[in-house]
Amino acid sequence: PTFLKVKANALANPFFVGVAVKSNQLTEGSSYNTVLKNEFSSITAEYEMKMDPISTGSGTYNWQASDKIVKYGNDNGINVHGHALVWHNAVPNWLSTFSGTDVEFALEVKKYITDVVTRYAGKVRSWDVVNEAVADNGDMRNTIFLQKMGANYIKDCYQWARDAANAAGDTDLLLFYNDYATSTNIPKQNKVFTIVDDLKASNLIDGVGFQMHNTYLSPTKMQIETDINRAVAKGLKVHVSELDIQVNQNNDITFLTEERNLAQKAKYKEIVKIYNALPAVNKYALTVWGFKDNESWIPYSTDLNHPGNDWPLLYNNKFELKSAHTGFLEGLD
Ligand code: G3I
Repeated sequence: PTFLKVKANALANPFFVGVAVKSNQLTEGSSYNTVLKNEFSSITAEYEMKMDPISTGSGTYNWQASDKIVKYGNDNGINVHGHALVWHNAVPNWLSTFSGTDVEFALEVKKYITDVVTRYAGKVRSWDVVNEAVADNGDMRNTIFLQKMGANYIKDCYQWARDAANAAGDTDLLLFYNDYATSTNIPKQNKVFTIVDDLKASNLIDGVGFQMHNTYLSPTKMQIETDINRAVAKGLKVHVSELDIQVNQNNDITFLTEERNLAQKAKYKEIVKIYNALPAVNKYALTVWGFKDNESWIPYSTDLNHPGNDWPLLYNNKFELKSAHTGFLEGLD
């Protein structure tokens, strides 16, 4: 078979083909490890480089899983994208119940960002410094960070990350802002790029992550290109950071019909083609959010938008290639 990263690396303007991983998939000899080494040139920790698994208390850490993932990437010449330093869905209990002052809270966040970026300086190529800071209505999401640190918290977090990287000599670290559904939600898209402009004015951002948890029907090619081109126009790197393509978002099929299978293939091809057409200076990585359909976050998601089962990824439950994988390859033509 043709492997994704082999075809991507052979392009005139190559880019990383990434996948979300769990540290327990990285064991030498596992089928994940084989597929990972053959197909992918970048990894993102699906969970284990977030604050809640790493931060065990003020200045105390559990580095076991994050170190394993970073070491695996560094040992195997695979790019490591850091996800995510600050996210409202990944606040450890000790910090979400913090009884100190707001200033002390901010110092804890600064310490965390500084310690993590310093530890992985030169080993992690890029970080989602802040993830999903914008609410679906286009306002700032009312997170614990906004409440306790104030409206300037985003800039503070990027400044701390940049300062830590530079102090550690990692002047090439790429700082990303990462969010979802900006292609179809214009108020949200506008707010994201207001934040991005503000960060860029202080040279505190290098790229934008478009998660792209899509369906086989939405967003349209035009919506995706319009959204992504706003980052291109600002000279920023574009990371399609969490791509998966649902085919059963309305729970109207009980198995992957051939019709949906081929529609999914076409959507993967469309998105890869859009990414592949980007100017070289704006290319970074296109990351799919997992290996196998039955391990996707989607079928087991409790929220109402993702009822029942779905088949959103490139490999089926038996770790066999799907038409989606062929679509991805065709997008690299
Ligand atoms: O592994 C621990 C286990 O030791 C512990 O006992 C258990 C108790 O809660 O948690 C287990 O961790 C789970 C983790 O996935 C590893 O499987 C967490 O509960 C669970 O919340 C976590 O879900 C992840 C979720 O983010 C929240 O971090 C999903 O795998 C991951 O796909 C999802 O990814 C997010 C992106 O980071 C941001 N964009 C949206 C995307 C989908 O929600």
